Amino acid sequence: MIVKPYSPNLGAVVTGIDLSKPISDIELNFIKNAFHKFQVLFFKEQSEISPESQIILGKYFGELHIHPAAPKMKNYPEIFEIHTHKDSKISNGAEDFHSDVSCDAEPPLGTMLQLHILPEYGGDTMFANMYMAYDTLSDKMKIFLGDLNAIHESEHFYKDRYENNDVRDKNKKYPSAIHPIVRTHPITKKKALYVNKFFTTRVEELNIEESKMILNYLFQHCEKTDFQIRYRWNKNDMAFWDNRCTLHKAIWDYHPMERKGRRVTIKGTIPL
Ligand code: SIN
Repeated sequence: MIVKPYSPNLGAVVTGIDLSKPISDIELNFIKNAFHKFQVLFFKEQSEISPESQIILGKYFGELHIHPAAPKMKNYPEIFEIHTHKDSKISNGAEDFHSDVSCDAEPPLGTMLQLHILPEYGGDTMFANMYMAYDTLSDKMKIFLGDLNAIHESEHFYKDRYENNDVRDKNKKYPSAIHPIVRTHPITKKKALYVNKFFTTRVEELNIEESKMILNYLFQHCEKTDFQIRYRWNKNDMAFWDNRCTLHKAIWDYHPMERKGRRVTIKGTIPL
């Protein structure tokens, strides 16, 4: 297996492993180390992985998370089908920077997405390094944010979002949770900013005006281009990103062309 940095700030390209085959303990260790070091891995030269194999693959990294809102694949509730095409009115739900399902009490550790159909051009995904977002703050700001928690909600975001994909959720209540604004990665022990525009609605300890101001500042800060990469997909690439220390955004610039794939998400722990 070969791991090559994608850019100095985050990401690595992995070749020399076939993800549709069983993974040895040595390979798994190697992947986990690279994942913790580079935060997002792009596995190239893959074939299309079946839903069963993608579930098996995800389970090497932990129990799988079931998405609270997104359309599930028939018989495979662990699989979130990503599909946008000429009739889509919204993107696949990732059109701005976010960490997947941060509104859950135990948000997903990581996400594995393989794309099988790509637009002829466009449809890139952007990733941003939230260790860098934290590290570049002043010491005083780090101390201030270190004591604060934020409310992450999803009712406003998920309600009716997938109605074009036959998701009927009139009577459904979507999750919300309170998480520290600065979280410590359970493996690397590094600190990362943990807020995002989709789900983070309020700083718990501040009044509404202060909360708005701080969150707006943090959203802008987290989106600085210096912390980002932009990934151009090839058919059947598998991306595996760490939701605890990155944000991502799928660029919705290819309508009416088609983009299709499947993702599994691995359960995480309470952010601390
Ligand atoms: C996602 O958030 O899973 C979607 C990312 C993408 O479509 O590139």
